[in-house]
Amino acid sequence: AATRLVERESLANKTTMRVGGPARVYAEPAGAEDLQVLLREMHRRALPVHLLGRGSNLIIPDEGVDGLVISLGHEHWQKFEPHADGRIWAGAGLRLKNLCGLAIKAGFQGFEFLEGIPGSVGGALRMNAGAMGGWMFDVVDEVQLMTLQGEIRTMKKAEMHVDYRHCAELHEAIALGAWLKPAASAQSDDIRRQIDVYQKKRVESQPREPSAGCIFKNPPGNSAGRLIDESGLKGERVGDAEVSTVHANFIVNRGHATSADIIALVKKVRARVKAAKGVDLEPEVLL
Ligand code: EPU
Repeated sequence: AATRLVERESLANKTTMRVGGPARVYAEPAGAEDLQVLLREMHRRALPVHLLGRGSNLIIPDEGVDGLVISLGHEHWQKFEPHADGRIWAGAGLRLKNLCGLAIKAGFQGFEFLEGIPGSVGGALRMNAGAMGGWMFDVVDEVQLMTLQGEIRTMKKAEMHVDYRHCAELHEAIALGAWLKPAASAQSDDIRRQIDVYQKKRVESQPREPSAGCIFKNPPGNSAGRLIDESGLKGERVGDAEVSTVHANFIVNRGHATSADIIALVKKVRARVKAAKGVDLEPEVLL
């Protein structure tokens, strides 16, 4: 089946921050061959290609994205398949929340920390997303990726360069899915209890308004949230973009923020923390 290309598709509603302009071209390929055809076509038209996951860690510019935006939202990419060798295949389009839910049902332990991350498997691999002391690559055995030339490769975690919020091999390639390794088998009730503990912590310490999660990476041995808080920036605003009063490393959209508002506020926070604390915070979100 040929993939439908949509011109000037709005992206704001596909992100958790809910800002930004349209994609010049948008597509949801139905399988690997479709994706290869798309990549060839964009190469021919010399258009840049961008991958959109769950849209939770990026700020789309107000003027939109001049290129092809690909989403692996089609059900083809959302598989969760336990195998006899003890590993689980998780497609890049599978939401982390669903991965956790399916793992609980099947009695697999080790995915609990991912529950509250509003991302997909592909996005979580791309940036090695983390929470509650764990990160995505803790549960990865192998990643299947497609190069921008359309070649499919499988890589062992040990061959990859993975770090805090970073995976070098996926900067120029598309994650198609991963073979995951559960930590152990456990009773679903015990897994559920651990998730409840994480959920409670998250609800108490993180804002509910639209946001892109944490804006800055934590500097080694320090907390960006605490540094921003101690610089007196909670509640600081540019337009409808606001430094959350709940957690200072979140910028929330109070209703009608634009991408420009958010970017201006990111710059302001960065400059103020540098002046007050002597620390140059590095953004975690894709700006
Ligand atoms: N803190 C403040 N003021 C604030 C926020 C935090 O003083 O406004 C203090 C807290 O009291 C705590 C310390 O800073 O002592 C750390 O805060 P927290 O436990 O909330 O964790 P964090 O380091 O700010 C990290 C991840 C989050 C993840 C949480 C929970 C980063 C940049 N952030 O936050 O990930 O959800 O741990 O495990 O690594 C994300 O990356 O988008 C994200 C939300």
